[in-house]
Parts: sequence; C-alpha cells; structure tokens
Amino acid sequence: MEPQQTANADSKPAAADASNESRHIRIFDTTLRDGEQSPGASMNLAEKLEVAYALEKLGVDIIEAGFPIASPGDFEAVQQIARAIKGSTICGLARCSEKDILRAADAVEPAEKSRIHVFLATSAIHREFKLRMTPDEIVKRAVEGVKLAVSRCEDVEFSPEDACRTEHDFLCRVVEAAIDAGATTINVPDTVGYVTPQEIYQIFDMLRNRVPNMDKAILSTHCHDDLGLAVANSMSAVAAGAGQIECTINGIGERAGNAALEEVVMAMKTRGDFYRCHTSIDSKRLVPTSRLVSKVTGISVQRNKAIVGRNAFAHESGIHQDGMLKERSTYEIMSPEEVGMAKTDLVLGKHSGRAALADRAKTLGVELAGDELKNVFEQFKILADKKKEIYDGDIMALIQQQISTS
Ligand code: KIV
Ligand code: ZN
Repeated sequence: MEPQQTANADSKPAAADASNESRHIRIFDTTLRDGEQSPGASMNLAEKLEVAYALEKLGVDIIEAGFPIASPGDFEAVQQIARAIKGSTICGLARCSEKDILRAADAVEPAEKSRIHVFLATSAIHREFKLRMTPDEIVKRAVEGVKLAVSRCEDVEFSPEDACRTEHDFLCRVVEAAIDAGATTINVPDTVGYVTPQEIYQIFDMLRNRVPNMDKAILSTHCHDDLGLAVANSMSAVAAGAGQIECTINGIGERAGNAALEEVVMAMKTRGDFYRCHTSIDSKRLVPTSRLVSKVTGISVQRNKAIVGRNAFAHESGIHQDGMLKERSTYEIMSPEEVGMAKTDLVLGKHSGRAALADRAKTLGVELAGDELKNVFEQFKILADKKKEIYDGDIMALIQQQISTS
C-alpha cells in the first residue's frame, strides 16, 4: 500500500513521487469512435482512413477505430484501418456480449497490433435503470466478457462504464475481477462528465491503493466535458497514476465532447516539470490534424480554443505586443511552431500599440519613425475604432496617405 496522496497545489503528482524519471503516457485516440458520436460528425470510409493515417503520423499509441457491431459500415472501417495502419494499435469497442466481442475481434484481426475494448456499466443508476442487473451479475458478465476477448486478442481493455459514479467498493471489486480475467488496461470513464479534478484524483489513488492486482494493468482515464473539466480531470488522473489518456482531436465527442488530445499533450509537454510525463506525439502535427478533423466532420474549431484555435497565438493588446517584440516568453508559454501553427500573430486592432504598428510596417518594407510613425499611428487608431481587424492593405493605405500629405 502506498501512502495516501492529496492533490493540493504544493504537492508533486503522486505517480512522479516514486521516481524522478519521466513516465510515458499512452495516448488513446477515440476521435473515430467517441468523437464520431458527436451529433453531425459522422465520417465515411475514405474520411476515416484519412484521419487514421493522420493519427498514426501524429504518433498516437492506440486508435479506437470504431464500434464494429454498430453497423456494417463501422465494421468495414475498423477492418480497413486495421489492414492499413502499422504504427499504432488498432482498437475496436464492444459491449460485454458475445456477439459484440466476436464482431470486434474479427474487425481488428488484420492489425499488426490489435486491442479489444470491452465495456459494461457499473454505477447503481446504470445497473438499476439501464441494465436491470445485480452487482453479482455485473461481475460475472464482466469476467466472461474479458475472458472471451482474451481468447481472441492478447491486448484487452475493460471499462466499467460510469465508473466515476460507481460505489468505490464495487468499483474495486469489478476492476480486480476484470484484471484476474486478463484485462491489461483498466479504463475508468467519467461517462457523464460529472467529477471534479480532486474527486478523480481520489478515485485513481484509491484504485492504486486498494485493488491488489492493479500493478498488472495500466490505468486509463476517459473524461467527458459536460462541466468543462475533461482536460483538468484527465491531468488530475495522470497525476494520480493513470498511464493512458483517452481523448479526441479538437475534443469532439458525445454531448459536450471528450478531453482534447492537443490540450492534454501540450499540458504534459509544456509542464513536464510538474507532471514528469511525456507522450510519443509529434506536437508539430497537432494543428494540421486538428484542421483535417474539422474539415471531414464539418465541426469548426472555436477561435479561442487552446492550442489549435486561430487566436491561440494571437496577441492584440499593445502591452502584450510590446512584450512579445522584446521577448516572446513574456506572453507565450509555448511557440506556435511547436504545435504546427505558422507563426505568432500580432493582430492589429484598437488595443495595439506603436511598437506593433512599426513592426508590421517594417515587414511591409517601410521604416516608420518619429513624426511619420506618430501620424500614421493616429490615423490607425481612428480606423481601428471603426474596424474589428486591420489588414496589411489598410496599413499600406495609411502609409501612402502619410507620404502624400507630408
Ligand atoms: O464514456 C464512456 O463511458 C465510453 C465508454 C464506452 C468507454 O465512451
Ligand atoms: Zn466516452
């Protein structure tokens, strides 16, 4: 038993306490399965293959390619992806039933590295109202399901659905039984996006301390964003010892979505000093992959979205622009180049200052100083009050005007 950890601001993450070495966190991408469950996000076979290739290039460890029992199209997509992709493990989802598991097993069979992901709800609400099963029946069904999956694939993940609303004693019992039956990854979904960062920390910590065979499986986190906490909760689970994060590109997924892959990856990369974790993701591919998923799903990315939004590296205020021109680290904790975005954008608007205007004029080939800069800046501020964004053409027009009147 390890000592009880608390997640206060001063404490180091629990998993990092044991050693100073950086832990490798597996990235399990479910854009093609949970992500596709976003209303309006369905993708055709060619689009799914294109996304799967992009995810492989991005460096994700596991691609959940679909839910093979859901439709013949889903089966076909998982099978084609299993044939095509070599670099990532290909996973198919299955409810805890023979039909589902055998269908998933057939679909992922062609993959060089395959996984079957079996899930069964465990919370009292789901047991009583959805499954109408007793706790004993749930444990029995979970064990049978995992054993069947193991007979077809050595890499089996088990998810107690709605785990974060499940009674702790029962959760420990199911997890222990699933590991005994052969599950090598235990995923702990916050299916309805209900928990807080402190609570999820306690759940992971509790599982690590109380489940006697927990060291035989990797703990995984799968958070939904109903309260806007999916990324914070995922990182809290990592701090408490999770070795795998389930996430989607742009955070798409059921209802409010899943934890955003680009955000959890950059949290670990940028704050490696705190989490002492790393991933195999090529961060320069984050923005291109985000753009691709947005294009094929038709779901646009909000402008202020962390990491991949158009404004993620844009600075408008004069004070920030001045700081940026002197030293980027004043207002940037990571660089746009690191995530595959072309460059920092010093947006010219009504909050911008003289330094940014002079800098932009210089990139347009005009050195502005003294009275010239003062006059153009005055005209620029008048224009900026009328227009949301000032383009290079506007700046050039103001400069021309200044030259012709001086
Ligand atoms: O949110 C959830 O519980 C799921 C499971 C199928 C893992 O997506
Ligand atoms: Zn989910």
